Amino acid sequence: MKEVNYREIAPDVLDKMAHGGVFFTVKDRAGRVNTMNIGWGSVSWYWNRPVFIAPIRHNRYTYELLKDADSFTVSVPLDDSCKQALQLVGTRHGNEIDKYAAAHLTAVEALAVKGAVIAQCALHLECKIRLAQPMTPDQMDEEIHANFYGDEDYHTLYFGEIVACYRTDLD
Ligand SMILES: Cc1cc2nc3c(=O)[nH]c(=O)nc-3n(C[C@H](O)[C@H](O)[C@H](O)COP(=O)(O)O)c2cc1C
Repeated sequence: MKEVNYREIAPDVLDKMAHGGVFFTVKDRAGRVNTMNIGWGSVSWYWNRPVFIAPIRHNRYTYELLKDADSFTVSVPLDDSCKQALQLVGTRHGNEIDKYAAAHLTAVEALAVKGAVIAQCALHLECKIRLAQPMTPDQMDEEIHANFYGDEDYHTLYFGEIVACYRTDLD
């Protein structure tokens, strides 16, 4: 395990999000764990600390777990070996199938939060939720609303302080 600086890995995270997505994992207080794919999000700087912002739509099982969770993790595959797994966790619901068995993924304990990361990935961000901000449709640009929220399934934006950022493929 090697700690890495969030500013150095930010371009990789953005690149992977734009080309196939990354794993977003949450464990709720009851111990339920789920992973989904996110293609949108940002590595950013808020409240004088590094923050990952993830948009999660309300029809996701993940959203149910987030209602009773205080952290999430983002696991980033730096090669192409997880393409099929990303497709599966990005199209199926965790309350209907065991995504870990179906996608041949292993959830291992996170280091700094009470959560899990995906063992098959090389880069991990562990985040403590500092703000959950539902979108306010009446403040939204019309074009964005028409193109992305015609069904009124809005996102909540999760602002997670990045409390650990590391690679598992380096010493
Ligand atoms: C490439 C890709 C990117 C995605 N990005 C997001 C995202 O940023 N936010 C989101 O809410 N859903 C996103 N999704 C959809 C969820 O991953 C998908 O609905 C998933 O099945 C939800 O799983 P769950 O119901 O187990 O939580 C994406 C899916 C794919 C394939």
